Amino acid sequence: MVAGEIRQKLIDIVGQDNVLESEIDRFGYSYDSSYVSLVSGNRPDVVVRPLTASEVSRVMAVAYEHAVPVTARGAASGRTGGSIPLSGGISLCLDRMTRIVELDEKNMMVTAEAGVRTIDLYNHCAAKGLFYPPDPASWKFSTIGGNVAENAGGMRAVKYGVTTNYVMGLEVVLADGTVLTLGGKAIKNVTGYDLKSLFTGSEGTLGIITRVTLRLITMPKKRGTLQVTFRSLDDGCATVHRMLQEGVVPAAAEIMDRVCLEAVARHKKTPLDAQVQASLVIEIDGDSDAELAAQAGRIEAVANQCNAVEVRLAGSQQESDEIWAVRRGLSSAVASLAPDRLGEDISVPRDAFPEVVRRIRAISEKYGLPIAVYGHAGDGNLHPSVLCNMGDPAEAERVHRAVDEIFAAALAVGGTLSGEHGIGITKRPYISRALGEAGVKALKAVKAALDPKGILNPGKIW
Ligand code: LAC
Ligand code: ZN
Repeated sequence: MVAGEIRQKLIDIVGQDNVLESEIDRFGYSYDSSYVSLVSGNRPDVVVRPLTASEVSRVMAVAYEHAVPVTARGAASGRTGGSIPLSGGISLCLDRMTRIVELDEKNMMVTAEAGVRTIDLYNHCAAKGLFYPPDPASWKFSTIGGNVAENAGGMRAVKYGVTTNYVMGLEVVLADGTVLTLGGKAIKNVTGYDLKSLFTGSEGTLGIITRVTLRLITMPKKRGTLQVTFRSLDDGCATVHRMLQEGVVPAAAEIMDRVCLEAVARHKKTPLDAQVQASLVIEIDGDSDAELAAQAGRIEAVANQCNAVEVRLAGSQQESDEIWAVRRGLSSAVASLAPDRLGEDISVPRDAFPEVVRRIRAISEKYGLPIAVYGHAGDGNLHPSVLCNMGDPAEAERVHRAVDEIFAAALAVGGTLSGEHGIGITKRPYISRALGEAGVKALKAVKAALDPKGILNPGKIW
């Protein structure tokens, strides 16, 4: 529990209704979509739900004065424990900050508070023919502040990039309550360090992001979805490569292996062709039906050269939506295959994708553990998911060794630990291996400069 004096100050700032302290609330705010805390049992002492940046600033000033840890939180859709209050203190939940402040059509930019859901932001812009492309699988419930704090990726990264490629400006509250405005609507801006990019992906460890300004592009007029099946994962990977080399850049190119397809078939109660070992789901977009048909034709030709079993173009928007809903729900479908699932997020140079998949297959066999492989083949970011029972100590030991080898494989082919989920808690043990001691020391120097008392999301990243 926080001391009575601190508690009263927090109530004075956000009101009694927005300071939650019951056992059930503290439990409810103790985990995210990594489910790490269910094992370790961390709880915030208190949950605080501010409505404005000024309230956030005042809460931070109190936290700073009393050296209380603060862990920011949006929708807790994160996969690495970023919003878990590891050291107790305040869970600072920004879910009441849901205003889309401005849609600036002339400059093609949108400004929103941190708690706006990604899908709501997308729809708001889409209604005016403007497109905010980053679309993490969780976009129906993730918040834009969380997306920026984690530098979220998504399906459309292959063609359109990730969150940081759209961040123009941020409002950030520093550890001591100072409110900073970073960047803005000027497209060219080299005035001082690029702090907005430093805060993007900082996982709540450097400041609290309260408002974001994002650039937009024009919405493509047409979209289509192709589903292609293969006898091997290698054929699927080869198709993605050839497609990109030939200059056909799909909006998304998602791969799923046989384990994933079985999870989906089980979930949908549909049979699965015995010869199918992998599938690609591809989104194409453009400005006319003719442009889409041309892209689809070229993709079909490439897929056939790579021994595709079947190439199917979704016949309607509804069919397309259903295919993407399955892909977005894949993580949960895969998780339901075993008592536990350790979902990773490695990212490798695109040409190393087949090699790293082969290494993961070998690791799966070596340790006798099923590993589902799916992910964003178009940009080299994949989610190997180890299916296991962590309640069995011997198996848990094998899982840790297998995960260790997966990270080693990613680094060996020139990749990295995380493409879009961040480091949080779950990847902390591996960060020095990825960045080296000097790299971690540089991160710590930045952290010490911006958070001298170490109150912002302590225990994360390293
Ligand atoms: C996905 C999430 C797990 O791609 O990143 O489904
Ligand atoms: Zn992903």
